[in-house]
Amino acid sequence: MLRIPKRFFGNWKMNGSFSFIDSYFSDFFSYVDTNVTDTICIMPPACYIDYVNSTMANFGSNVIMAGAQDMSMTGENNGAFTGQIGMPMYANCGAKYVLIGQAECRQYLGLTNEYLNRRIKLALQNGLKVVYCVGENLEERETGQINSVLNTQLTEGLVDLGGEEQMANITIAYEPVWAIGTGKTCSSNDAEEACAMIRQIVSSFSSYETVDNLYIIYGGSVKPANAAELCSRPNIDGLLVGGASLRPTQFVEIINNGAMA
Ligand code: PGA
Repeated sequence: MLRIPKRFFGNWKMNGSFSFIDSYFSDFFSYVDTNVTDTICIMPPACYIDYVNSTMANFGSNVIMAGAQDMSMTGENNGAFTGQIGMPMYANCGAKYVLIGQAECRQYLGLTNEYLNRRIKLALQNGLKVVYCVGENLEERETGQINSVLNTQLTEGLVDLGGEEQMANITIAYEPVWAIGTGKTCSSNDAEEACAMIRQIVSSFSSYETVDNLYIIYGGSVKPANAAELCSRPNIDGLLVGGASLRPTQFVEIINNGAMA
């Protein structure tokens, strides 16, 4: 059977330094299989995107690429918005993907779906691929609101992207908020159920072909021990890894375990 390539994203959050990046990639490339066909993308803080790219190039590798973590609070490309970063700047620094709507940004910055939709459009217009994060918090899970929360985040966040073909540039990350950075793992059954819901919701506004080709990945306390089981489920096409992606040996183990599942 033909293996479908998976997607693995390492979200470094607010971590890293030049010396960290040097030692990270020297370990990473001594473990990773350089023939992989899966997408592997490291998302460092914006100030290190260029350095991550040039360090990887020193290893002669096109196996992995750099992406950006978006937390800007302006729906513009540029202008008088002190401290913000425009999508053309991420692209200019060499980012290929941009993470939009990650739960910490939704929570701490109060970003709405409408606003995230604006950022998604700007990313696509600037040639960036998007990882759009959705997911319920614990209270919403316990009160049976998962479907309605995902439905609102997806329909409002992905509205009017300028043609259905744009969906090919979007990866959806299901990240239950209560599992992010907490060590609490979502069971593979629960993750599969939510990812299947996401596919079904997207089918309400997209063609069969788009939905069939859509990448839906899981994020939230992913570790080497649960990567294979999560990735073996039919609606989980890869992983968004936070804390464990800061340890190169762990991240490679997650990729290896998930890719072959
Ligand atoms: P975590 O983070 O793996 O540390 O839970 C997930 C994420 O990047 O959102």
